[in-house]
Amino acid sequence: MSIKSINPTNTNAWSDLKSHYQKIKDIHLYDMFKSDKSRASSFSINWNDFYVDFSKNKINKKTINLFSNLLEEINFKESIDQYFSGVKINTTESRAVLHTALRAQMSDEIFIDGENIVPTIFDTLEKIKLFSQKVISGSHKGFSGNKITDVVNIGIGGSDLGPSMVIESLSDYKTDLKIHFVSNVDGDHLNKILNKVKPESTLFIIVSKTFKTIETLTNADTARSWFLNYSDEDQLSKHFIAVTGNKNLAIDFGVDYQNIFPLCDWVGGRFSLWSSVGVSISLAIGYEKFSELLEGAREMDIHFKNNDFAVNIPAMLACITFWYNNFFNYNTHAIIPYSENLKSFTKYLQQASMESNGKQTDRSGKLVNYQTGEVLWGQTGTNAQHSFFQLLHQGTKIVPLDFIGFSNSFCGNQQHHNILMANFFAQTKALMMGTYGAKTETNHKLFKGNRPTNTILINKLTPKNLGSLICLYEHKIFSLGILWNINSYDQFGVELGKKLSKKILEDMKNQNFDNHDSSTRNLLNRYFSTD
Ligand code: F6P
Repeated sequence: MSIKSINPTNTNAWSDLKSHYQKIKDIHLYDMFKSDKSRASSFSINWNDFYVDFSKNKINKKTINLFSNLLEEINFKESIDQYFSGVKINTTESRAVLHTALRAQMSDEIFIDGENIVPTIFDTLEKIKLFSQKVISGSHKGFSGNKITDVVNIGIGGSDLGPSMVIESLSDYKTDLKIHFVSNVDGDHLNKILNKVKPESTLFIIVSKTFKTIETLTNADTARSWFLNYSDEDQLSKHFIAVTGNKNLAIDFGVDYQNIFPLCDWVGGRFSLWSSVGVSISLAIGYEKFSELLEGAREMDIHFKNNDFAVNIPAMLACITFWYNNFFNYNTHAIIPYSENLKSFTKYLQQASMESNGKQTDRSGKLVNYQTGEVLWGQTGTNAQHSFFQLLHQGTKIVPLDFIGFSNSFCGNQQHHNILMANFFAQTKALMMGTYGAKTETNHKLFKGNRPTNTILINKLTPKNLGSLICLYEHKIFSLGILWNINSYDQFGVELGKKLSKKILEDMKNQNFDNHDSSTRNLLNRYFSTD
């Protein structure tokens, strides 16, 4: 039995939240702080190296109780158990959703169709470990007997965004291998990388769960042809490996069977960085640090699975997002990490969240008549302050934000870090208070405040803490899927565009655009008539 289909708008808690919204919506956030001196400690969670302060939100104790009632009415706890235990909760594709198993301990048992998958996960981890150790130490050599110096990861979407974000975020921990990512089929992207590397010292990782993605296969083909200009077929195995769930297609492409790192169908692309897709991470920071990343995620898994709602970070952040989307009509959400290392974090989360929860159909196959999906965006602070923060402070739209910051920098430059973090603290305060109570000369200088934020303050950006942070958002995405009564784990919305581009490519070859609407036809004609 999979997750029950329960329309949240039909619950008692929904009606209660609706009346509660009417009472709370006009209370200024700063008034909430004035009337409750212990607000910050009531609405924050301390966990491991994390301090999550959600007190600057339009909530009070009653809101938390109503969220809790809602979670009970929609069988939230039971859904979490089903998620972790391998029930096929991705019902449209009849698949389990078990990226959490990739962080399991060897003694754990997780069954799919009667088979314990944990031993296979550890076999793969061992393969990743041995391979990355060989490449990092130089015992794996290229065709001319040289050490590998450069690794090119060819993949797109989940086969790119997770590992590239992690490697960039943990660049302070890197080995001496240079890791490059090619995702876009834009030939200029690949070309730029090929111009930087040498065939005799480059390892290509073709990452594609399906091994059918046109962008990845086109880039992989070009990379192989480029390589064969300098070497020959029987040297390919030293320079090409694959991460895939489709071994046969990888072998047809020319990858040696030994060089295939498996990917199972119960790992969704956007949640796959913990799997073989993470081989580039293990090469970039070493296997030990990769396993610390997994450990951080495992600890967050345990936190999410075992904790009651009031102290459960992912569930709390999900309910707050639900509250804003479905009652306040605040439809976008910005993520502002105060760490330049995390500059791709939002880009990564955009796929994880929007490909998961951008859905119009509920679990029972009916079109929904309420809002789903967060529009996520953002940039690092302080850069964002000098860009779009004007709108956040004085615009007519309210955008809830997550501020992510670290108590310690990596390089230890305290002067810089204090300035950075003073901005971090100042911004959430300014967004909450505005110029409350003060007379401003003109409305141009008025800050209304009353703008909600979550603050996630973490001791330090370590592999383990990054693992927990990513995992926090994975479980927030899951929780929102349960609240919205949608399947977060399929992605049929990407198919139509893929299908049409295949057809247009065919039409481009035949130079026949007659069957297209006038706009598409004109654009295609213009494309072919410009030098
Ligand atoms: O376009 C959507 C998608 O299927 C993503 O979900 C996935 O991460 C990406 O394409 C790449 O897919 P693959 O790993 O099969 O090449």
